[in-house]
Amino acid sequence: MKLDTGSFELSVDTIIEAPRASRGAADAARYLAELWRRTNGMMLALRSSSADASTDSLIRFERHPGYGPEAYRLEVAPHRIIVSASTATGLFYGAITLWQLMPPGAKRAAIAAQTINDEPRYAWRGLMLDSARHFQSPAFIRSMIDWMAWHKLNELHWHLTDDQGWRLQIRKYPKLTSVGAWRLPATIPGAPNPQPYGGFYTQAQVRSIVAFASTRHVRIVPEIEMPGHAQAAIAAYPGLGAVDGHPPLPVSARWGVHSHLFNLEPGTFEFLKNVLNEVMELFPSRYIHIGGDEAVKDEWIASHAVQARARQLGITDPNALQTYFTQTLSRYLSAKGRRAVGWDEILQPGLGSDAVIMSWHGTSGAHAAAIKGNDTVLAPDPTLYLDHRQSALPDEPPGRLAIISLKNVYDFEPADPGLSPAQQRHVLGIEAQLWTEHIQSEARIEWMALPRAAALAEVAWSSAPRNWPDFLERLLPMFVRYRVYGLDYADSAFGIRHEFAGGEHGIRVTLGNLAELDQAALGTQIHYTLDGREPRADSAHYAQPLELEAGAEISAATFLGSQQASRTWRVRLDEHSGSRRFSTELEPCGNGVGLLLEPDRARRDAAPLAVDIMNPCWIDRAVDLTRGPQFSAAVAPLPFNYELGADTAHIRIGDSRTPAGELEVHVDGCETPAVAALPLAAAAGRPGVSILPAAKLPALTGRHDLCLRFARPHLDPLWALDWAQIGE
Ligand code: ACM
Repeated sequence: MKLDTGSFELSVDTIIEAPRASRGAADAARYLAELWRRTNGMMLALRSSSADASTDSLIRFERHPGYGPEAYRLEVAPHRIIVSASTATGLFYGAITLWQLMPPGAKRAAIAAQTINDEPRYAWRGLMLDSARHFQSPAFIRSMIDWMAWHKLNELHWHLTDDQGWRLQIRKYPKLTSVGAWRLPATIPGAPNPQPYGGFYTQAQVRSIVAFASTRHVRIVPEIEMPGHAQAAIAAYPGLGAVDGHPPLPVSARWGVHSHLFNLEPGTFEFLKNVLNEVMELFPSRYIHIGGDEAVKDEWIASHAVQARARQLGITDPNALQTYFTQTLSRYLSAKGRRAVGWDEILQPGLGSDAVIMSWHGTSGAHAAAIKGNDTVLAPDPTLYLDHRQSALPDEPPGRLAIISLKNVYDFEPADPGLSPAQQRHVLGIEAQLWTEHIQSEARIEWMALPRAAALAEVAWSSAPRNWPDFLERLLPMFVRYRVYGLDYADSAFGIRHEFAGGEHGIRVTLGNLAELDQAALGTQIHYTLDGREPRADSAHYAQPLELEAGAEISAATFLGSQQASRTWRVRLDEHSGSRRFSTELEPCGNGVGLLLEPDRARRDAAPLAVDIMNPCWIDRAVDLTRGPQFSAAVAPLPFNYELGADTAHIRIGDSRTPAGELEVHVDGCETPAVAALPLAAAAGRPGVSILPAAKLPALTGRHDLCLRFARPHLDPLWALDWAQIGE
């Protein structure tokens, strides 16, 4: 980018010109006009020729040879803006950059004279959406494609099939969706019979989505999982399964790694090829994803039919059997002019070099693939797994507990210095994954995706050195655009962090932001009110902890200058505010599988609970036990619907004393004898959060760490803590 002198006056009098001869120019011009209509309320005139050259405020789109496939040039001069590119895609990206040079909401702006030459660092700038674990509406998919486009993200990897659902209509096999698209949700023991839920995309809907995506220069890479993550398909057509004489399987309502695989019979390959034929009819993408992850081989090893087939093929190693499976279908796709993509487990000796490896075991799969000469995409767990919560703030929706913040994504560095320049060319790009086991609603997908997708987009597109405070500042106008489009983005990076403690004259309220906001570099401030009004930039500036009475209402937000950067955080203090601690504020005792889970599927407004499903146990640090002998807690029973294989044996159950189990309180360590055990009977069988009858602790003074953990007779239900409290 090079700045010149002077500026271009953009206003409602500006005309956008797209010569008819430049293919794609009219589309880019219309798209730009539509974006400014939405975010700025400006209606600009479009014209197709320069018959009238008199205007002194003109934007022109032009095709010129010589630019890269996605590159564009943007020249801003006092009376003319010229967007040039060699492709329709380049013109489209030029339009998006130009849109973003205008502050949202403005009706008039002076755009500095400048020349921008731009093209992406990576060709594959992707997001994966899991529509199998939870189904999203076609309208949501279109909206996602739309916002992906304005982040210049260009690959939507669409995870359409899994153990818990088959979401794509296949004409030849109607049971895939009449059976495979519906499941009974997991419930706690004793709950009433639930209703099936689910959904699928008809082929007509898919065609329409694919056509829309092409107007947004987004390719859709469909994924059909095999040989594992196949239980929904096997539920629909039991003959595809690998267990000899197994009773029919349900579509699974459990999460984790399931043991059921497709078998290796000729009829199963025939089935998969027929499915892929319809997939290829629907999706023009050169890349077709055939899964390949987490295929545990126990069933193949145990099955007489699979072993007989293996002997025929002369294959003894079960991993080589998967390579045979992958190669058969990968060759089938190649013969039709397509390329197979698979998760990094498919990288085994014997795999052809045209298969693309999606690296999810960190970046090691990509490294190995590039050295072997296979193209690869970086999709590393956990850094680019957007089902992780993005902060410890209490308003984060359900997901994985370990935090992957906006900054973690922004700091992800795809360059691998261990690869030669030739090997590096095999790295096609990067992709973030939206797995939806714990993300049931479309609004929550947006929260998990945005603005982390903006950070991903910058890493994927730009080779320029990254600048975190600058990125945060540029995010604020993006937030305005998200709001205009009705997107439920996360404001966590700017969100208000609070701490309540018993103070001398009431409750001591300490406010702050996440450390990574970098307030010093950005100059953000917190402003608050105590009268229920919305905080504004001229409201009281928060500088030190406040002492407030129960009943006080505090409303606070983060500001950058006059712009409000976070949503308003609002709370009315009550007598519990200084003494109650929520699961999200406590430390897990171990480091197993931390999740943030909904206490009750039927009630979306309840705050999620932080729980390690391997060890439901929390440490409440430095609790002032002088405050009183009464210990109370709120808990919820959750369905234990996890497939953890051999790890199940390592889940802590504890020694329960009563039929429903207890919540145990230990002081200064978890292995000390329990000082109290609150029976769970009052909460058992009741969905959602229940408050347990309080228990009296022995007389203790001073501050101690409490270890709170469950002893339960069975794995199911899993118990989770909502809050714990000490009082008189
Ligand atoms: C994966 O997370 N199993 C690709």
